[in-house]
Amino acid sequence: MSEPARGRGWLAFWSRPHKVYVDDRHRRVHYARLADDVLSILPGPGARVLDFGCGEALEAERIAARCARLHLCEAAEPVRSELARRFAGHPKIVVLDPDGLARLPDGSLDLVVVSSVLQYLSVEELRALLRLWRAKLAPSGLLVLADVLPPESSALADALALLRLAAREGFLLAALAGLASLAFGDYRRLRNELGLTRWASDALLAELAEAGLEGRKRATNLGFNPARTTFLARPRPSRPEPVGGEGPAAIGEERPEHDEPGRHELGR
Ligand SMILES: C[S@@+](CC[C@H](N)C(=O)[O-])C[C@H]1O[C@@H](n2cnc3c(N)ncnc32)[C@H](O)[C@@H]1O
Repeated sequence: MSEPARGRGWLAFWSRPHKVYVDDRHRRVHYARLADDVLSILPGPGARVLDFGCGEALEAERIAARCARLHLCEAAEPVRSELARRFAGHPKIVVLDPDGLARLPDGSLDLVVVSSVLQYLSVEELRALLRLWRAKLAPSGLLVLADVLPPESSALADALALLRLAAREGFLLAALAGLASLAFGDYRRLRNELGLTRWASDALLAELAEAGLEGRKRATNLGFNPARTTFLARPRPSRPEPVGGEGPAAIGEERPEHDEPGRHELGR
């Protein structure tokens, strides 16, 4: 399977109706928790934010109410059209395709959130995107790569995270039925045929560094799946700072972690 064919395969999946969320409650609690977590790292009310690979962005208005501008970038055309319809005329929400993102002025974003997207990108696609996000970030901006699959992640760990969430939120029966249909459905078939990209910490931190970003692994993931990982990164200054000058703010209170030598894996 060539890398472009793989990317097209996953994009085709996201472009048609799918059952990744087992029911409407699952969909709503997922997007609500993600929005809570994004709001917890929002730099402030003046922030210009990008949600890249935003999907249905059910809580976009709640995030937009707390920032200056929210860009929603989505590659799947039917999903993007629906976003454009929902947010037509919204004073703070802008819906973009990937070309539209490339046309934004450099340095014009304070926060870029990329949640649950890296597994669908090839290494080459991610490299190009890291450079794009780096260019669009303001010098003190923050890139958040959330829900990244580590090498040891598995469909079983994902299923257990879903069942724990479902038991807590009261949709256990729907989750059991949803897991059964996922096991034989389109997502499972594509996961086997196309594979998912997994990232070891050191390998992803090295890619971030190569793109001019200084990254850290966050202590906890955004969203509900504790078996996945979130990385925070800020642009490295392109020129040495003058002595006593103010560099970009430190990346939260998180301490860097070191894994075994990095590697990425394709497939399960
Ligand atoms: C698992 S969903 C994640 C949605 C949302 N970010 C979340 O965390 O729930 C992955 C989304 O990424 C989008 N996507 C995949 N590749 C993309 C790309 N190269 N550019 C923009 N969006 C992409 C898909 O169309 C899909 O809507």
